[in-house]
This record gives sequence, C-alpha cells and structure tokens, in this order.
Amino acid sequence: MKKTVLVVGLLLLAFTAGSQEPVFSVPDWQTWKKGPAWLEDAVIYQIYPSSFKDSDADGIGDLRGITGKLDYLEYLGVDAIWLNPVFESSWLDGGYDITDFYKVDARFGSNDDLVNLIEKAHEKNIKVLLDLVAGHTSWKHPWFLQSSMGTNQRYSDYYIWSDRLPDARAQQDLTQMLSSPEPLKDTKGSWMVSDSPRGKYYNKNFYATQPALNYGYAHPDPDHPWEQGMDAPGPQAVCRELKNIISFWFDKGVDGFRVDMAASLIKDDEDHFPYAKHFWRKMREWMDKEYPDHVLMAEWGGPKDCLEAGFNVDMDLTGRGSKTHAIYQDEHSQTDKNSYFSLPGAPDAEDILHGWADRCSDEFEHIKNMGYFATITGNHDQFRMNTGERNTPEQLKVMMSFILTMPMPIIYYGEEIGMRSETGLPSIEGSNHNGHERSGARTPMQWDGSATAGFSACSPTDLYLPVCTHWTNSSSHGSPTVASQKEDRQSLLEFTRSLIRLRKEHKAFHASSEWTPVYSEGKAYPMVYIRSCENEKWLVALNPTGHSQNTIIPHTASFNGETKEKITAGKASFKARRSGDRISLGPVSLMIVNLSEGNR
Ligand code: BGC
Repeated sequence: MKKTVLVVGLLLLAFTAGSQEPVFSVPDWQTWKKGPAWLEDAVIYQIYPSSFKDSDADGIGDLRGITGKLDYLEYLGVDAIWLNPVFESSWLDGGYDITDFYKVDARFGSNDDLVNLIEKAHEKNIKVLLDLVAGHTSWKHPWFLQSSMGTNQRYSDYYIWSDRLPDARAQQDLTQMLSSPEPLKDTKGSWMVSDSPRGKYYNKNFYATQPALNYGYAHPDPDHPWEQGMDAPGPQAVCRELKNIISFWFDKGVDGFRVDMAASLIKDDEDHFPYAKHFWRKMREWMDKEYPDHVLMAEWGGPKDCLEAGFNVDMDLTGRGSKTHAIYQDEHSQTDKNSYFSLPGAPDAEDILHGWADRCSDEFEHIKNMGYFATITGNHDQFRMNTGERNTPEQLKVMMSFILTMPMPIIYYGEEIGMRSETGLPSIEGSNHNGHERSGARTPMQWDGSATAGFSACSPTDLYLPVCTHWTNSSSHGSPTVASQKEDRQSLLEFTRSLIRLRKEHKAFHASSEWTPVYSEGKAYPMVYIRSCENEKWLVALNPTGHSQNTIIPHTASFNGETKEKITAGKASFKARRSGDRISLGPVSLMIVNLSEGNR
C-alpha cells in the first residue's frame, strides 16, 4: 500500500513539476491483473479479412467466409482470431482509413454478419479480437469533412488544423511528400496541405489520407495555437468517442481489440510516453470497471512501456532492427534486399538469445505480472516466414517451432501451411509505400490447388490479389494448401498443430512460465533454450543452418540417457550425461525435448 502511495505521488510530481500540465489522477495500475485467464495459454491467429475466404464470389474475402472456416480454425487449435480492420473504409490503406467506426464495410458483409461470426466462434471457444484504428480516420470520414468546414462545427476539434507549418522541417517533409510520384502513397512527414475553411494544413498520421485524431499535445505551446492540451474539449470529446466505439463492439460480443499505433496518440510526448501511458491507463481503468474480461493488445513494440500503459498484450514488431527473427535466416543465405530480415551482419543464435535475455532481465522481469509479450510469425505489414531463400518446409518448421515455444505466439493466416511472400505484386489499396511491399503478405489463403486456391468462386482474374504461385522447394511434403497438408503427418500444417497441442498440454510452454537461454560458447548454432514451470522442464534446440550443429550444454535434464518424449524434425538427438547434455542436430533440424523428472 505504502509503495502504491509513493508511486502515485511520484507520478503526480512528474506530471506537475515545473510545467502547466494538467494534474492527473493516476490509476493504481500496479495492482492490475494481466488479463483474462484464457490469455495464459493462448495461440492467436491473425486474419487479413480481404484475403481469407470469399463467400460471395466477388474476389474479396468476407465475414461469412471466415465463419465458414471456423471448423478449420478449431482443427488448427487456435484460441482467438484477430481481424485486421473490418469497418467501413475508403480503402487507401487496407482498411486503416476508416469512414465509419460503427459499421462493418459492405465488402465484408454487415454488422449482423460480424455478430454471427462472433457467436459461432464463441460456440467453439474461439475469441474474436478486432483492430482499433484509434489514431486517425479517413479523410473521407464525415467527422473530418465536417471538421474541415470551420471552427464552429461539432467535429471541428476532432482533428488538428493550422494556418502555418510548425517549422522548416515540416515544410521540407511536405514538399518531399508532394513531389513524390504518388504523394498519397508516401508516408513522409506529419502535415498535409488543405484548401478548406478550417485551416491550411492538417496533421496526419501515416498517409495524407489519414488525418490524425486530436487527442491533444503533451506540452501545448502557446505560440502554436493548433496544440491543445489533453484536457481541452476537442481531445476530451475524441476520447469519449473512442470509448463509445469500444463499448459499441464489446456490447456486440467482441472480446478485445488490437490497437493500431497505440503509442502515438498524444503528440509531442516524451521518452517512454508518459502522456500516452496516462491516456491508456485511464482507458484501462474504465475497461476494468465496465468490461473486466476484455483484452487490449497494442501495436507498440516496447513491452515495458506498453504494459505500464495498461495493455494486456504487446507484440514484438520484429524484423527491422530486432534480432529475434534473425532465426528466420540461414546464416549462409543471401538475404532478400527487400526483406525486413536482411539485418546488417548475420546475427547468430547467441546474439538472438542475448537480445531476448536482455529483454528478459530488463523488460520481461518488470512486466511479468502485468501482461504479455507476443511473438509473431509475420503480419500484414511484413514479409512472411517463407521469403527469400528461406522457403523449405524444413526451414519453416524450425521457425514455427521458435514462434510456438515462445511465451505468446501470434500466427498470421497461411503461415501454418508455409504460404510465401511473393514480391513484385501491384500495390493494392495502399499496400505498398515508400518502396516497401506489403502486397506479397496479403495474397489469398490457399485452401486447395484450384485456380483461386479455393479462396473464391470468382474467376482468377477477379481476385483481390493473385494467388501466390512462385513458391519453391515446398513440394517435398505437400504444396502450401490446406487440402494437400491436412492429415499428412509430415506437413507443416500437421507439425504446427502438434506444436499447438504441446503448448496446451504442457504448462512449461504457457505464457507465464520461465524462458531461459542456454549458451554454447563460441557457437553460432544451435539455438537452445529451456521453458519450465514448477514441475516441468522442456528444452528447445533449433538449427536453421544448412550444416550439422553439435554442442554439449551443462547437465540440465533430471535424468541420464535419452528422453521418452520429444518432437523432432530432421536429424536430431539428445543424450543427458552428468558431465554435460549432448545435443546433435543435422542440417535444418530441431528438437523439443521433455527434461522433466521421470522422462527417461
Ligand atoms: C498498420 C498498418 C497501417 C498503419 C497506419 C499500422 O501500423 O499495421 O497496416 O498502414 O498502421 O494505420
């Protein structure tokens, strides 16, 4: 209790010291629970709704299509689906430019179709999470259109307007964006020019077509009249609107939201986002009262700050800069120049483990009782696991084993069958920007070997994006379709299912169980770590390289000799000895071994 009072006091002091910021009442966030119990062993499945299953033959996926595939999701064994935005949109950024937050876009069906999907999913014990684009709307949203008309409108201050740009840098960014070949597909800068009565410029978040909602500035500057405080009437109204949107969908049965660009709502925030944290903590305080069993998952990429803000889950946004997904690349492969994973200097297992271990001691230790940090196979913004030269089922099994033995996994649709990120596809609905391709990760789900991959009854020429045809090396255990891999014990799909079952059956793999790296001095691979809880201990050893990797680690098993229980792919063996446990892994192989008492 004393500690809580002290923390509250310190935070109050931090917000008031030497400035005119509003005095915040700080919720008692340190006592919050991690989230509903189902998160503990959850496997989340991300669906890009335009590309999963088309039920009405218009070439675009829809909600009825997803409902029709719930049996498959149950078969796969996932606990929750997260859908990218399904609300009415002007489709200049894959649905992240919303025109009505209270209405399902007609291409996906109706609000009733969404409720039906939720009910049917719940019957199978599958939760449904939606995407909340909290930070901006479409420039075609009626709020923005009205706001642009002047200062005396209901929505005037829902957005940030100015008659001048704040500085030379803003001018430079705007000029650069406007002079690019396709300005509306260029994300440069934070301001866009306008000829509306309300102001000459408006603040934007991503594309110019996505004006930022006005949640206020951390430090409004009196010389910058467009900067309103968080407690000003405009930002307060926007905050109320956000709560309305959340309630509207929670009341229809939605179990939670993934919040887009969650850290960036408050402009001009400081290091570690104290103002954004304050905002979200208030939201969480409200949610705990009104919707205590619901989940907020953030696109944040910094678990300590994110969970301190009150989110239940943060996710590793990986790729760029993060070493985590370096396991995705063979140490000897030429990396794809366009790939997020073409990291400078091929990092080895030790680097990756150290990266995670640093996070564990620094960030995870701190957040252990506050929430979760999820590892993703890929997503709609990034390349899939199958990209560049990383394309065989064996390589993908190694990667999938990594994801599914980490504390909380999120599988992007189609990764379970090894769908490939194709390159060179056209930009669809704002998918590609500033030279970065996202279309390749959004192609139709491959259900079977037909011309539309069983995704749609339309003609292949009418598909939203073409079916990916250029996978390589993937035929050794079935081509990447559900039909060809189902019930083939060697397939990636069945392997993924067995990993999901392993997670369910063994608490050592649950989110709150320990993750401990095991280093083998001077060796790039194998990557070895242990997952454990009170009475279970499992060892994971991964070799993504094309060479055999053998190592001896300190004796960790509770027995000597071989183990009874293990999952392997490729040539792999484990022998426990008092003098040290021996791990032998052939080229591109893995093993997951039960080291618990009595498993000899
Ligand atoms: C989403 C992107 C989107 C951007 C702007 C994100 O981070 O994941 O797909 O383009 O926000 O809304």
